[in-house]
Amino acid sequence: MYIVFAASECAPWAKTGGLADVVAALPKALVALGHKVSVFIPYYRQVAKLAPECPVVLPSVTIPFPHYNRFVQILDGGVTDGVQLYFVANSEMFDRESFYATPGGDYLDNAERFGLFSRAVIEATKVLGVPDVFHVHDWQTSILAVLLRSTYFFDPVMKGVPAVLSIHNAGYQGWFPPSTMELLLLPWDMFTFDKLETYDSVNFLKGGVLYADAITTVSRKYAEEIQTSEFGNGLEGILQRRNADLFGILNGVDYAEWDPAHDSNIAAHYTAENLAGKKKCREDLLHAFGLNDVAETTAVIGVVSRFATQKGFDFIVAIMDRLVQEDMVLVILGNGEEYYERLLTETANRFPGKVRVQVKYDNVIAHKIEAGSDMFLMPSRYEPSGLNQMYSLRYGTVPVVRATGGLEDTIDERHGGQGNGFKFWGYDPEDLLDAIKRALATFLNKEEWTGMMQRGMAQDFSWEHPAKEYVRVYERAVSNRN
Ligand code: ADP
Ligand code: GLC
Repeated sequence: MYIVFAASECAPWAKTGGLADVVAALPKALVALGHKVSVFIPYYRQVAKLAPECPVVLPSVTIPFPHYNRFVQILDGGVTDGVQLYFVANSEMFDRESFYATPGGDYLDNAERFGLFSRAVIEATKVLGVPDVFHVHDWQTSILAVLLRSTYFFDPVMKGVPAVLSIHNAGYQGWFPPSTMELLLLPWDMFTFDKLETYDSVNFLKGGVLYADAITTVSRKYAEEIQTSEFGNGLEGILQRRNADLFGILNGVDYAEWDPAHDSNIAAHYTAENLAGKKKCREDLLHAFGLNDVAETTAVIGVVSRFATQKGFDFIVAIMDRLVQEDMVLVILGNGEEYYERLLTETANRFPGKVRVQVKYDNVIAHKIEAGSDMFLMPSRYEPSGLNQMYSLRYGTVPVVRATGGLEDTIDERHGGQGNGFKFWGYDPEDLLDAIKRALATFLNKEEWTGMMQRGMAQDFSWEHPAKEYVRVYERAVSNRN
C-alpha cells in the first residue's frame, strides 16, 4: 500500500511534542512491513536551517486563493529508513520564528498556512504519485480530509482516495473565523453545526472527524474518553456518532532513539541485566542541573514536558512545600506557556538545593533525564498517549502518573512493587503527593525497586504492533471506498 502522511511536525526536523516522534517513527515501521510511505511537512525556518540545500522536486505548484495565487515548492528531504520525506516551501507562510505562534499568541493566518499546506500536499501527490490513503494528524492537516470530500470530490485523480485522521490531542482544534470558508474555497453549506461550524467558527478538527474515512486516536483509553464531555472538548457528540470508525491505537516507542543500551546522548550505557551505567547517568544528570552532594538514597525525580495546563504542573506546584520535605530532588526540563515557565522558575528558586528547572527545548537533556532519574513524573490532567512514560520504562526510570489516557493503558501499580509504576486517579494534588510517597517508600526497598525497574525495561512498546493495527485501519478505509 502507498500511504502519504501530511503532518505539521516530524522529528528531528520540527518538533514541539510527541506528534513529531510519531510521524518520524510510524512510517519507518510501515515500511518495515512492506508498505511505501511518503511524509510531507512544512519547510519551516527551523527545517531550512537543518536542511538548507534540498533538491527541488516541483519548482512551482499554484494554489489559488480568492483574490490571489500562492506558489509552493516541493523539496526533497531525502529517504531515511525507506521513508521519503518532502518539504512544502513557501517563505511567506513558513519562514517564521516558530511553527504555530508568537509568544503573544497563535499566528492569525494559521488557517491559511495549514490550508495551503494541505492543498499543496494534495496537488503534489497528483504529480508525484497518488496514495492509496492519506494519513493526516491533528487540526493542522484535518482540513485535508475535508478538502478531499469537498473541493476535490469530483477530481478525477483524487476521487475515492480515503483519509485517515489521527487525533493526538483533542484539546487543540483549530478554530478560525467564518471567512475561512471563502479563503479555502470551501462551500458555505458546510458551515453548519453538524459540519464544520462551532460557535460561529470554522473548526478544522471537527471537519476532520466528520469527513475522514476513519479516525484513530493514540490510546484505547483516550478513544473512550474523548467520547465524553470531560475530554471531548465539544467533539464528544460527533465522535460518538462516528464511534464505529474510531480506533484507539497506543503509540509505540522508537527504540533506535530511546534505549539506554545505545543512546549516544547519555553518560554511560546500561541494560536490565547490567544497571551499573545508570549510576553514572544519574551523576551526570545531577551535574547538568548543578545539584551536588546528593546521597545515593535520595531519589531523583525527573520531568520532561511541554509547559501546558494539560500536563498538571499546578498539581506539582501545589504540593511543592511538602514534597521538598521528602528525601528527593526534582529536575524539570520544559518550555511552552509563559505562565508555567514563570511559575516553575519561581517555585524552583524557593528551593534551590532540591528543585531545578531548565526552561528550554533540549533533546540531549531530555535523554539525560530519562536515563539519570529514578522516577519520572506525569501528573497529566489528560494524556492522549504520552511517550515519556514509555521511554522511562525502557530506561529503568519508574513512572508516577495520573491514570488517564495512555498513562492508564501503560502503567500498572500493584501491591508489593509488582507493577511497573505508580498511579493515582483523583483530580487532586493530594493524590499525587500520596503516589509519590508510595514510590519513595518503595525506592528504599532496593530489591523491590530493582524488580520494578527491570520489569519496565523488559516491556516492549515497539512500533511493529501498532503499525499493523494502522494497516488494518488503512485497508478498511480503502475497501469501504471500493
Ligand atoms: P506531548 O506530545 O503531549 O508533548 P508526549 O509524551 O507524547 O507528550 O511527547 C513529548 C515528547 O516531546 C517527548 O519526546 C519528550 O521528550 C519531548 N519533549 C517535551 N518537552 C521537551 C523539552 N523541553 N526538551 C526536549 N524534549 C522535550
Ligand atoms: C499529543 C499528546 C500525547 C501524545 C502525542 C503523540 O501531543 O498530548 O499524549 O503522546 O500527541 O501522539
